[in-house]
Amino acid sequence: DDPERLAAFQARIDAGEKIEPKDWMPEGYRKTLIRQIGQHAHSEIVGQLPEGNWITRAPTLERKAILLAKVQDEAGHGLYLYCAAETLGVSRDELTEMLLDGRMKYSSIFNYPTLNWADIGAVGWLVDGAAIMNQVPLQRTSFGPYSRAMIRICKEESFHQRQGYDAIRKMAEGTPEQRRMAQDALNRLWFPSLMMFGPSDKDSVHSEQSMKWKIKMNTNDELRQKFVDQTVPQIEFLGLDLPDPGIKWNEERGHYDYTDPDWSEFYDVIKGNGPCNTDRLAARNKAWDDGKWVRDGLLAHARKKAAARVA
Ligand code: ACO
Repeated sequence: DDPERLAAFQARIDAGEKIEPKDWMPEGYRKTLIRQIGQHAHSEIVGQLPEGNWITRAPTLERKAILLAKVQDEAGHGLYLYCAAETLGVSRDELTEMLLDGRMKYSSIFNYPTLNWADIGAVGWLVDGAAIMNQVPLQRTSFGPYSRAMIRICKEESFHQRQGYDAIRKMAEGTPEQRRMAQDALNRLWFPSLMMFGPSDKDSVHSEQSMKWKIKMNTNDELRQKFVDQTVPQIEFLGLDLPDPGIKWNEERGHYDYTDPDWSEFYDVIKGNGPCNTDRLAARNKAWDDGKWVRDGLLAHARKKAAARVA
């Protein structure tokens, strides 16, 4: 790329201007956005699976209606994000195929199982809580379509977090058995939630360049710390035990200290060896294959219509 063009591009980013699809952009900027937005879209879509699994087993009609709405929202988020990625010159079908054959990733968290109803509360509270922590700053990201998708997504995501907190609170205030289930869900999902923010800054491959381009607004560790600081008082309010003996207020830093997740587990999960990777991809592949006749039918119909217009 021509250095003058690159400098002018960087100056627009530094001035806080939004980059729009038809503007010139460096190839690396385009590629990084396709990777990040695509992975983000896939996460929303795959993220429907662990919760969708509990719609038919929700404990009350109200909880069922809430969960159904939330899972539908996730599908919508996936669609806004695929649309944002499409403005960069990649089709939704291409992105989907890259997910299905393992060339693209989705968030590590969705490779963990939801074993019982307490997990559904904990997913809303912790997983959606971590997701918003990452997505609120992305509303200011430099690429216009991504930023606008994030504004809408964050509104819905905060409802998701609250419904999860409300569900887990109900259990934490319930019978000893319900309380035990809430504690167990927190213990199991705590470290996987911390992993959602990505590897520690020293091992993050893309952070430096992505922050320069304002594709990312914060480092992985900054957001992870914010999440811990926000969530520890909520755990205390619920009267649950802390899931990590390393959590301790650090007066000097003005933050909670905490134990890092097991990074070897993280890398193992993103390589495809988490507890549910095989099931998740099998479910997405099945949905894609089962839907082939619908895609073929729609295309055939569109072709027939177009031919009739020409005639
Ligand atoms: N799960 C799976 N892969 C991850 C995760 C994770 N939690 N965190 C990092 N990775 C991958 C990166 O994609 C990258 O691999 P790649 O080069 O093959 O793409 C590698 O690990 C190294 O990480 P980083 O260099 O730190 O990657 P990056 O700068 O992209 O930061 C992050 C990762 C923070 C997830 C960033 O991509 C991001 O902010 N994405 C948008 C938010 C998002 O995707 N949320 C999805 C979950 S929330 C939800 O859907 C409800």
